[in-house]
Amino acid sequence: MKAIILAGGNGTRLRPLTHCLHKTVLPVFDKPMIYYSLELLAESGVRDVCIVVSRGFASVYLQLLGSGSEFGLNLTYKIQDEALGIAHAIDQCRSEIEGDDCIVVLGDNLFDRGFNVKDVVTNFETGCELFFKEVHDPERFGVPTLDGKKVLKITEKPEQPDTNYACVGLYIFDKDLFTHIDTLEPSARGEYEVTDLNNIYISNGLARANFYDGFWIDAGTHDSLLKANQYFYSLSN
Ligand code: G1P
Repeated sequence: MKAIILAGGNGTRLRPLTHCLHKTVLPVFDKPMIYYSLELLAESGVRDVCIVVSRGFASVYLQLLGSGSEFGLNLTYKIQDEALGIAHAIDQCRSEIEGDDCIVVLGDNLFDRGFNVKDVVTNFETGCELFFKEVHDPERFGVPTLDGKKVLKITEKPEQPDTNYACVGLYIFDKDLFTHIDTLEPSARGEYEVTDLNNIYISNGLARANFYDGFWIDAGTHDSLLKANQYFYSLSN
């Protein structure tokens, strides 16, 4: 299995912090945000990681992370010229990943220390693995409609969520990923949505739901970035 970290996008919700600094190099307690994703992947046992960066900040990531040897990872970099959504960002890695299964992490999603996906990665065979976390503000996220623990569909940022779960920014896809990406159309917000991709796996009966109850945050707003800093600081005391 290979891996993708998405570190593109414009970080508009974190302006003015993100005018000159890219979102996933911002500090979360004692290290840049992207270190958390790299450490999660290193612990999962994958080695080849493709990082998708936005055009204006590519050099920052090369300088910060280099070959990835400090993490025991083999890093390659792909440039996303335009922020056209998560599925579009994943597609930038096609030449590196096609033919392999892959785990995708959104660089602004932070998980509890000790959260280990090694077992899911090791046992993965086919389809996709989705991860859900109960939250108080599901309308900010992709939200599953559930029948028990079976996921029936995901709705992106619904006004009236069916459940209190968020689909977190961690996905495992099988080799059919790029075939499915080829069928996607842009959404109303003009993006190629990971939710549409996930719904293809769900409607094919090939998506498995994992329920996660540790700390998780999408650190893409001032409020959540501060909470992430507070949480990881609290672990150090
Ligand atoms: C994205 C996904 C959404 C997911 C979220 C997790 O949202 O589209 O389904 O729940 O990441 O952080 P965005 O960051 O584009 O608002």
